Amino acid sequence: MKYAGFFLMLLLATAALAAQAPPPNPVPWAYGFVIPSPEPLPPPCPAEAKPYTCSRPGRPWPEDGMLLDLPGSSRKFTITQIQAHYDPADWYPNEHPHPVPAIVQYGRESDRLRACAHCHYHNGQGKPENGHVAGLPVNYFLQQLALFRSGGRTSADPRKANHAEMTQIARFLTEAEMQAAAEYYAAIPWKPWVKVVESDTAPKTRQSAAGLFIPLGEGDEPLGRRFIEVPEFPDRTERFRDPKAGFIAYVPFGTIEKGKTLVTTGGGKTAQCAACHGAGLQGAGDVPPIADRTVSYTVRQLYNYQQGTRHSQLMKPVVAKLSPDELVAIAAYLASL
Ligand code: HEC
Ligand code: HEC
Repeated sequence: MKYAGFFLMLLLATAALAAQAPPPNPVPWAYGFVIPSPEPLPPPCPAEAKPYTCSRPGRPWPEDGMLLDLPGSSRKFTITQIQAHYDPADWYPNEHPHPVPAIVQYGRESDRLRACAHCHYHNGQGKPENGHVAGLPVNYFLQQLALFRSGGRTSADPRKANHAEMTQIARFLTEAEMQAAAEYYAAIPWKPWVKVVESDTAPKTRQSAAGLFIPLGEGDEPLGRRFIEVPEFPDRTERFRDPKAGFIAYVPFGTIEKGKTLVTTGGGKTAQCAACHGAGLQGAGDVPPIADRTVSYTVRQLYNYQQGTRHSQLMKPVVAKLSPDELVAIAAYLASL
């Protein structure tokens, strides 16, 4: 009986630990979720669906008629203008090419196709939950739109509704719109965007509807094996959609060095990335730049290649042998550049 009691205690202690311990797989965070699960299901999105019907909409911002401004911009906008789906506020019109293609500025409301600038910003810097399109080679940009359309680029985590929306956007674009958007964003140089901090803790966060983690301003929590990526200036990113407010990724101690070894030597498990992605990993020819993009975005891509939901003959062998922790280490090192 003495032993039975001891084992019961041990069992309860292990169960309590399992309940508290962070889930072991860091990959769900890259998709905007805390645990691996089929829930919540994304909205249905058949091949002919108008793009916005596939999205998981956020709460609308209440209009109070106030004009808001940002340092460094001479323009003022109401919250409705900032958050507009079809003609979002352009804070820094002097910092991107002109004219802005109509599809980038307005999208196409009759098809519920939201403006590229609403998600990727006017300067193409984009956010962890969507993607980074400034400075991408034109051919690569067009190839990706073709892959979205053909089903060659889907999300390994089917909960990611905005990926489904992006797929439908690509299906509704005309050739001329694709070309105009690709040339516009390719002409914008990439600017520093992500800081990586090694730590035992990270800010407590909440998730936006689209899968952005936003600090609650209520202190920190243990990081464990996860990474947590948040806006550096949460209000500027969330409320103002400021395309100059970047991101911070918190990763466990030792992550960057581990990633550096894999990226620069292959570590016996992968290829040297610079062989194709060029010096400084700034891209080469039609191969895209991968330095200083958000950790979440890069982990998703690597995991999607590994799962085969994003098709690339060249990238498939690169990721084949890497563990989830190694994918995060590689993405963290790349983000730290
Ligand atoms: C609702 C938000 C949203 C809108 C609007 C949007 N996108 Fe996207 N875009 C995404 C998401 C989400 C991804 C994919 C992220 C991923 O693969 O994990 C993406 C990825 C991309 C990529 C691939 C980037 C890369 O590095 O491979 C391109 C190119 C792109 N979008 C172009 C466009 C264009 C052009 C428009 C406007 C016609 C547009 N997007 C509008 C959300 C959006
Ligand atoms: C043999 C050439 C080659 C090597 C080596 C290589 N890549 Fe790639 N990579 C590519 C090509 C080509 C693409 C574009 C493929 C596509 O169409 O999806 C790509 C795409 C990517 C993307 C997606 C970029 C985006 O904007 O969505 C990431 C991330 C990436 N590679 C990371 C890496 C990392 C990390 C390494 C090293 C561990 C690496 N690659 C090694 C050729 C290579």
